Amino acid sequence: MSFGAIGQFPAYRPRRLRRTAALRRLVRETMLEASQLVLPLFVRQGKKRRTAIGSMPGVFQLSPDEALKTAHGALEAGVLGVILFGIPESKDETASGAYTRDGAVQQTTRALKKEFGDDLVVITDVCLCEYMSHGHCGVVDEKRGGRVLNDPTLALLARAARSHAEAGADIVAPSDMMDGRVGAIREELDKGGFADTPILSYAAKFASAYYGPFREAAESTPQFGDRRAYQMDAGNAREALREVAMDIQECADMVMVKPALAYLDILHRVKTEFGYPTAAYAVSGEYAMIKAASAKGWVDERAVTLETLLAMRRAGADVIITYAAVDAAKWLREG
Ligand code: PBG
Ligand code: ZN
Repeated sequence: MSFGAIGQFPAYRPRRLRRTAALRRLVRETMLEASQLVLPLFVRQGKKRRTAIGSMPGVFQLSPDEALKTAHGALEAGVLGVILFGIPESKDETASGAYTRDGAVQQTTRALKKEFGDDLVVITDVCLCEYMSHGHCGVVDEKRGGRVLNDPTLALLARAARSHAEAGADIVAPSDMMDGRVGAIREELDKGGFADTPILSYAAKFASAYYGPFREAAESTPQFGDRRAYQMDAGNAREALREVAMDIQECADMVMVKPALAYLDILHRVKTEFGYPTAAYAVSGEYAMIKAASAKGWVDERAVTLETLLAMRRAGADVIITYAAVDAAKWLREG
């Protein structure tokens, strides 16, 4: 980066504009607002169900009626969006729970849209891992050592996305990392009369140890192997840009970088290179670390959370998916 004219000490003193809170506020470059935050919700069938997740204090598996209450609280705090993850009552080899009309995601989507209409943005996570008996994000070929098959997975993902759109989802968000899934989903949505339903692609999703607590929450730990044959290698930035470029060519409307905190460089490059609406996913492990350290009294939860979210905005995120969305929104309101 090259600077134009820049003053020199002692005539120029950057500290002049840091003297009072109002001055600092006036010249702040990056704003963090509740409306930029999206709250993840883990939903499962039933009534009055609210099951705590050990590694994610403050996060619960919710039945649709409880999800409604939580969404109501989020809206009151100024959060405009939720992203739904489903936990089925049974799993199989074709992930049928992912695209059944009465799945928890479909039910909850209908309930949320009925209650809140266009005031709440309902995003649905599109993946198969929660619904597959083996816990992988795609169809597994048993004969070939449990390889995850790309092309046979696309139709299932497209079917899941369509069922979410039929339930009223405002945005569908594929998180599987199969090649070509954005195109396959776009085609299926358009065929089904959902040309107006946007796709938020988890475009640069890395194989990350930070997903540990999520897998407890979503009951989606792979039964064998890991996800390295489809999620990205942590060392690769240029490949991440290619992934994003491909998804944009397949007509993704928004792109995501995930995880967020350890990948702020990727976030920055994606926003700078493409200028698309860009989301960052502050994942479960990021949340758990702040919760654990603050429970010990080692960091200030509020300050560290807000500073971290602001850093994601500064790096290029327009939207941040975070388990701390409601707390952060309240803290922002308090000022
Ligand atoms: C599944 C999925 C994962 C997350 C979102 N969707 C986990 C994984 O890939 O194993 C992680 C979210 C988090 O850790 O908060 N496709
Ligand atoms: Zn998955």
